[in-house]
Amino acid sequence: MSPAQPKRATSRAHPADPCTVVIFGAAGDLTSRLVVPALYNMRRTGLLSDNFSLIGFNHGKMTDNAWRNSLRTALERYVGNNGGRFDEDAWGWLSSQMTYHAGDFDDLSAFQSLAVKLRDAERRRGTKGNVLFYLATPERFFGDVIEKLRDADLVDDGGSEGRFWRRVIIEKPFGHDLASAHALNERILKVLREDQIFRIDHYLGKETVQNILVFRFGNGIFEPVWNRNFIDHVEITAAESIGIEGRGPFYETAGALRDVLQNHVMEVLSFVAMEPPDNFESAAVRIEKLKVWKAIEPIPVEDTARGQYAAGTVDGKHVIGYRQEDRVNPESSTETFAAMKLNIENWRWAGVPFYIRAGKRLAQRVTEVTVTFKQPPLHLFKSNASNAGVQPNVLKLRIQPDEGITLIFGAKVPGPTTNVKPVEMHFSYADAFGKSSANGYERLLLDAMLGDGTLFAEREGVEATWALMTPILEAWKANPPKDFPNYEAGTMGPKSADDLLAKDGRSWAKL
Ligand code: BG6
Repeated sequence: MSPAQPKRATSRAHPADPCTVVIFGAAGDLTSRLVVPALYNMRRTGLLSDNFSLIGFNHGKMTDNAWRNSLRTALERYVGNNGGRFDEDAWGWLSSQMTYHAGDFDDLSAFQSLAVKLRDAERRRGTKGNVLFYLATPERFFGDVIEKLRDADLVDDGGSEGRFWRRVIIEKPFGHDLASAHALNERILKVLREDQIFRIDHYLGKETVQNILVFRFGNGIFEPVWNRNFIDHVEITAAESIGIEGRGPFYETAGALRDVLQNHVMEVLSFVAMEPPDNFESAAVRIEKLKVWKAIEPIPVEDTARGQYAAGTVDGKHVIGYRQEDRVNPESSTETFAAMKLNIENWRWAGVPFYIRAGKRLAQRVTEVTVTFKQPPLHLFKSNASNAGVQPNVLKLRIQPDEGITLIFGAKVPGPTTNVKPVEMHFSYADAFGKSSANGYERLLLDAMLGDGTLFAEREGVEATWALMTPILEAWKANPPKDFPNYEAGTMGPKSADDLLAKDGRSWAKL
């Protein structure tokens, strides 16, 4: 029998549409660390159109050359850190497409002069009038910039009948609670259609996150056991060994829940838990993700844990505590660690807890989904005293680093007795496909240039995750922590996070 026809061809033979990318926040950290390296990688791998131009918009005067040089320095560091060789050709081409545009985000005349540059790019570089505006600015500028784009007549593209397209990528954080996310959506949707908005979550650009869907729906053997009949519980960990990296003022207003749990971890959770979509088009995928978030029961504050790191040792080096970090309140109540237990009340998952956690200055950097299966119905080997090794099967989807998948199962230890020991079957991305220097933004930029929103957050989705998290933030605020700092840097977080599982008779899986 021939296999079912694909509902969507996912291999794209052609590069992105011709376009100009305008980065707001062009002198910022995100631009140099992630966006420009991604554009450089796209050029190297032939994903960028030859008809391309890049405009950096920022307050403060700077020459085109000064902007290019500052980005080159950052890019060399990025390439070096990834063990690669700096590609002069790719950079030479990219930098020749780059111009800097000085202007304030609230100054209409700066947007009107941007319009002149865009027409110029269209004429000289053949970008066909297509423009991708990238908002790599602090959250407070998102609404203003979008309204100024409208006032300068830069976002009207005539919809599906239009001759060219205008799209906007919005960086996270999208709001800081439900009310602010809702207000921002209302504001920008007065200016843009939903299909013009690309709310980025860079986790969705990661190969290993996308692979969760391929693992589940591109194979025949896993989906039949992917439910409450076979799975005991699921853990999602986003652990970082780094601290706040000089981002004190930002982190003080964010914290681990807003920074990572509400977005990155909830996105991963939706991929793990969603039903198979009817096809791989954006609308179908988004509906299934939304259904997962909506099925999560309100989270009682007793099912949450928060922490803040004290000084300690990470990777053999002494590090300071959070309250001693630059531009952090010495009595700060901001959490650098957050964990919670979620119940997804639907047919597939009722009774299967999902434990999630994220934190800074933990013992190791690892993002992983751990699926623990139920024990076999009969313990055939239990009478043998040496069978202490019979353990539940565990599947580990390693998002990063050492990307791969591991299945832990019991095997008979060779010998005259029936002795069972857990062993590992391992798939490594690097071994199978080689090491990649992509940072996830390449795929997301490409998709935005092609108008594919599948891997982006949409309005209802962001509001659904904020609706779950906002009551926790409010409860935490009403009841400031008395025990902060409550974990030592270089450990795996506060004891309260272990207690979350311990009260269910479980413990976090070994990473
Ligand atoms: C960002 C957060 O969104 O994600 C950072 O603001 C965090 O605080 C980062 O370090 C983690 O991303 P990654 O890709 O390194 O896991």
